[in-house]
Amino acid sequence: MAIPLGKETQVMSGSNGLFITLEGGEGAGKTTHTPFIKSLLEQAGRTVCMTREPGGTVLGDAIRELVLSHTDMAMTADSELLLMFAARAEHLYQIIRPALQRGEVVLCDRFTDATYAYQGGGRGIEIERIRVLEQWVQGDQRPDLTLLFDVPVEVGIERAKGRGVLDRFEQESRDFFERVRQSYLQIAKNDSKRCKVIDASGDIVSVEAQISRLFEAWL
Ligand code: TMP
Repeated sequence: MAIPLGKETQVMSGSNGLFITLEGGEGAGKTTHTPFIKSLLEQAGRTVCMTREPGGTVLGDAIRELVLSHTDMAMTADSELLLMFAARAEHLYQIIRPALQRGEVVLCDRFTDATYAYQGGGRGIEIERIRVLEQWVQGDQRPDLTLLFDVPVEVGIERAKGRGVLDRFEQESRDFFERVRQSYLQIAKNDSKRCKVIDASGDIVSVEAQISRLFEAWL
């Protein structure tokens, strides 16, 4: 059944903005590399709007606090899924679509691939149910380019532990993160034109070299 688009879910047209998303499991290093990516885009003459999910708006930040910090709060997988999309609806409406319409590059730390990987792969929610919400909230809006920072689960967990107190997701099991990783890799395989895998297990220099090569080809 086709879902009618809500009045806030306008389909983008006539915008020369670019929508770039950064994805990966825990400790993959996407946040470390964001300033480097931003500087490459600015050198290419683009204005960059940096943002993240869940977050980016007052409502999104409140949802972020709920789903990340309250480690002992009961929350069904469905509630978690709906909260992610509530944050996303607000983020698209307030931040992402306006920036794209201004012709900016939106550089977003996580987006809907994270929902497929964490709530789909990790929590086991059926993909078709996530697709319904994706269509509801986003209409035809999809990222133009996604960088998937991939590291073996053990490496990612060790890095996350090194950052201090673990949040509600970081406290999940090794099996959970293995499912998240495999889901991300499957997304990249199914949509290889949009989604580029970066081997993030090496040092900063080697990861930056891969990013530079990718943007040279892409920009
Ligand atoms: P991060 O910004 O430090 O990566 O933390 C965000 C956490 O939220 C991360 O563990 C992944 C999780 N997440 C989901 O489970 N589903 C989503 O749709 C998004 C955007 C994030």
